[in-house]
Amino acid sequence: MVTLAYLHSDEASIVLEPRENAAPAWRHCGARVDPAGVPPLSAARGPASFSVDRDVPLSTAPGTQPGWFGRPHAMLHDHHGAALNFRPSASIVDQDAQNIRITLSDEAQGAAIEQEFQLMQGGAFRLRTRLTNQSDQILTITDACSAILPLHGDWAKIVSWSGRHNAELAEQVEEMPAQGWLRETRRGISGHGGPPGVYLLARGATRDAGLVLSLQLAWSGDSRIAIDRDDEGYWVLSAAVTGTRAIAPGETAELPDAILAISTRGRNGAMAQQHAAVRSLLDWPGGAMRPRRVHLNSWEACYFDHDEDRIVRLAQSAAAIGAERFVLDDGWFKGRRSDNAGLGDWTADPVKYPRGLGPLIEKVTALGLEFGLWVEPEMINPDSDLYRAHPDWTLAEAGGETITSRNQLVLDMRRGDVRDYLFGAIDKLLAEHPVTYLKWDHNRDHAPAGGPAQVLGTYDLLARVRAAHPGVEIEGCAGGGGRSDAGLARHVHRFWTSDNVDAISRIGMQRGFLAFLPPEIMGAHIGASPCHATGRSQSLPYRAAIACMGHLGVEMDPAALDDAEREEISGWLGFYKQWRGLLHGGTVMLGDAADQIVWQAQGQDGGGGGEFLLFVIRSSPARHRRPQPLPLPFAAVCDTWNVRLLKLAETSGPHCPAQPDLVDQYLNEGVVLTGSWLAANGLPLPVQQAESVAIFHLEAAR
Ligand code: GLA
Repeated sequence: MVTLAYLHSDEASIVLEPRENAAPAWRHCGARVDPAGVPPLSAARGPASFSVDRDVPLSTAPGTQPGWFGRPHAMLHDHHGAALNFRPSASIVDQDAQNIRITLSDEAQGAAIEQEFQLMQGGAFRLRTRLTNQSDQILTITDACSAILPLHGDWAKIVSWSGRHNAELAEQVEEMPAQGWLRETRRGISGHGGPPGVYLLARGATRDAGLVLSLQLAWSGDSRIAIDRDDEGYWVLSAAVTGTRAIAPGETAELPDAILAISTRGRNGAMAQQHAAVRSLLDWPGGAMRPRRVHLNSWEACYFDHDEDRIVRLAQSAAAIGAERFVLDDGWFKGRRSDNAGLGDWTADPVKYPRGLGPLIEKVTALGLEFGLWVEPEMINPDSDLYRAHPDWTLAEAGGETITSRNQLVLDMRRGDVRDYLFGAIDKLLAEHPVTYLKWDHNRDHAPAGGPAQVLGTYDLLARVRAAHPGVEIEGCAGGGGRSDAGLARHVHRFWTSDNVDAISRIGMQRGFLAFLPPEIMGAHIGASPCHATGRSQSLPYRAAIACMGHLGVEMDPAALDDAEREEISGWLGFYKQWRGLLHGGTVMLGDAADQIVWQAQGQDGGGGGEFLLFVIRSSPARHRRPQPLPLPFAAVCDTWNVRLLKLAETSGPHCPAQPDLVDQYLNEGVVLTGSWLAANGLPLPVQQAESVAIFHLEAAR
């Protein structure tokens, strides 16, 4: 009999086989199993033709030893650059119901690896790896995997996301590869394709049912997610930080966490585990999330063209429609008339703000608004006082070659003096003014990239700012959604999903965002029409309904609207405030239905029922005469539901289609439907125009 190490969530199990002087071998990574009576690998795996005579199965830390032909866990080198072959001379595995801890040490090479599999709240597993240099020389570690795990032969599909500025998070679905599959980023940030992560669907898995595995790396820099075909008929999934990191004698390097969600309840089940895992990493001011305040962000209202009067007028119109936080975006600091100059000089521009920011902030906060400020600390314009004083502070190739992007260069965040300068500048702003929010931007790729140490430098600066100003919330932004990931989520409280606020574009992006990150940290603004990024026009209700699914804000000047529209937008802000308690912190379910309908339910599932807002989105004109009922699989858990239609967000007017009587009933007293009817037959829908959202309230009847 073999003693296995195992960890169970409600839906999944990780099972490992400890081995002497070797990393534990993987035995299972999938749906929950009872490992009692499982024979040892040595009995289960016989000799294979044309294989080495000593069996070398996939372990939690495969090295470069003879007989392992797959990807190594990491490459280790000594200070001369010679490759080290990490071979544990001791391997200790201990476990309890929440953790498996593995310690592998290689005395000859002077290195130790600790791995931990930890069951997180919500059912995901957190994979943690630490490497300690026990030698007296510098070691380097390259392309270190935070996770490397087996995929059995029944996985069928890979879901992943790619993107660019203004077109973030486009979903792709591919077959499992015959040879291999890679999702690699090399731009120094996690990128506009969203978090470094992937979903895998077993044969037949859907949004609501079947086995789904999802893995994300909590990391904001270059990474590689790989699926390698193993010649034994399965695949190996790995997630690594690419690049090299030096580890000093006595130092312990922590790799970024990998968050592994395995669910038998389809993509929505795995997504719920990812949300719970990321929520446990968030560090809210005051220890808990406050209701997510409605923003007005100045960028698209006036770009670089502002001064104290202009911003006060904008803040007044923000307060008048019910905004709760005003964010002064780019353009307020020294020399910043356009994107040509100023980055690095974090003091108020003497021409635009001759009295400094103090009087402005006083006026804005007197309106009852919190005040937030845009900064882009990791960047520098060659036309700035900072660059003139420290031209050597930028990331450069050997020989000093640099290349601008948006007229800016990247500061070398590996340098302590650079971080000290930035901390000093930000600390001064936050100490001198009642600024309770920072929008922390990052508007270019790294070229050259600074490797993992650049990212760690940014984390270090963020942690220092957070420690010195624990009451300040931070929004992560990188030309929209170029750096939205669970690594940065430890330091920030919101991500700017995209500079594209076109409601149609946003539907797919927001669904991509939600694959890994929860809705309360998804910045979603009601923008102007036509949309600045796409030139498309959409009705205010449609734009507003789509934005209400995230953390709501306004990205335009309300003074540019007519009175009726201002009243309407104010109504939407009120709607969001009424329901944000339900929309945030709970369960999200996504679905697709007949005739191009997509839907999203957001709420609290409270065991055996719960309460949800259901957004039924029709973007294209219907192809069929009548809407088909919308099956809601989640409704099956409870006998009866009270259903109300809160809003039919569409262009109003005489051209609106006639509705069945049921719609009046939905709007007035509500309709009671059984869970089985809703799950199997479906929710009867109103007739929806193109570009409309029907927002229902569903509550389990008690
Ligand atoms: C980026 C952000 C925008 C805005 C501009 C300012 O593009 O995504 O929201 O802050 O920078 O330059």
